[in-house]
Amino acid sequence: MELKIACIAGDGIGPEIVREARKVLDKIAECYDHEIKYTDILMGGASIDVHGVPLTKEAVAAAEAADAVLMGSIGGDASVSPWYKLPPNLRPEAGLLGIRKALNLFANLRPAVLYSELSGACPLKTEISGKGFDMLIMRELTGGLYFGERKTVEENGIRKAVDTLVYDENEIRRIAVKGFDIAKKRKKKVTSVDKANVLDSSRLWRSVVEEVAKGYPDVTLEHMLVDNCAMQLVKDPAQFDVILTENMFGDILSDEASMVTGSIGMLASASLNDTKFGLYEPSHGSAPDIAGKDIANPIATILSAAMMLRYSFDLDKEADAVETAVKEALKEGYRTADIMSEGCRKVSCTKMGDLLVEKICK
Ligand code: IPM
Ligand code: MG
Repeated sequence: MELKIACIAGDGIGPEIVREARKVLDKIAECYDHEIKYTDILMGGASIDVHGVPLTKEAVAAAEAADAVLMGSIGGDASVSPWYKLPPNLRPEAGLLGIRKALNLFANLRPAVLYSELSGACPLKTEISGKGFDMLIMRELTGGLYFGERKTVEENGIRKAVDTLVYDENEIRRIAVKGFDIAKKRKKKVTSVDKANVLDSSRLWRSVVEEVAKGYPDVTLEHMLVDNCAMQLVKDPAQFDVILTENMFGDILSDEASMVTGSIGMLASASLNDTKFGLYEPSHGSAPDIAGKDIANPIATILSAAMMLRYSFDLDKEADAVETAVKEALKEGYRTADIMSEGCRKVSCTKMGDLLVEKICK
């Protein structure tokens, strides 16, 4: 089949990791007889440097014209990069928020899995990590505090800032449906995370999630307050299957969940709308401190490309092939610097990509 993929290499380590993911996709296309048509799109700092803005209308149109978008990472070091001297709506992150909104990518899937080969990297005690864990954070991505009205004013010489957390029931319902649909295919448990003891938006969240749950009698629903969830993630991560939550809570909890795996360089993500279209990117950031050194871990981006094959193209066999190649390389002891441990073989970003390419259809 023909796969139209738009690529956003972005900033920092973005170009290196996207290059490796493309190598892997090209090998998949060659073995399984697909044709990939890539278009390159500028976003974030790379777009600011050329166009003065982090996302152009043309970039959004090019993404829309593709079947899926593969992204590296955007942003730089805010303490030194000139991008952060610009007003907030012109900084690299505004490009990412802009494309999420423009393409209606309301469902952000962030799996956090403890790979048995990497269990040594898990910062938790072995009696906790020994149980293993495999959870998926389903984060609402186009509403809440990120997109509510905000302003900074001065009243009687006192500076005051306001951010608004808004959700309507339809926004909650559509993400809840995605959460339950995916839980049905996994361990059949949804933990809906909110702050219903304080926030109205959370009380509405809880009641809409309960309505949706009625349509999924085989899926267990539990509610958890976000502060408790932050604690449970380090106390007993094995209890979770799908964590369903709003935008800001999901942002925070997904970083925590990825840290608990000990290997954020391994974690993929998908941002989906109501169609098969999706934007796929690693859960980690642009790591400007190691950019251009060929030491970044490309696996999260490569696993994001596998999610793309699975969710946007329904190519499960091909996605399995990529995931199996990753597991084999880990089993054989190959590690990039971020996941290196004693007795393993340290490889560069490029070398890791080469090894995975070799393992596909060998
Ligand atoms: C993420 C990031 C973004 C977010 C930033 C870069 C705007 O932290 O994808 O989790 O907060 O959503
Ligand atoms: Mg984040």
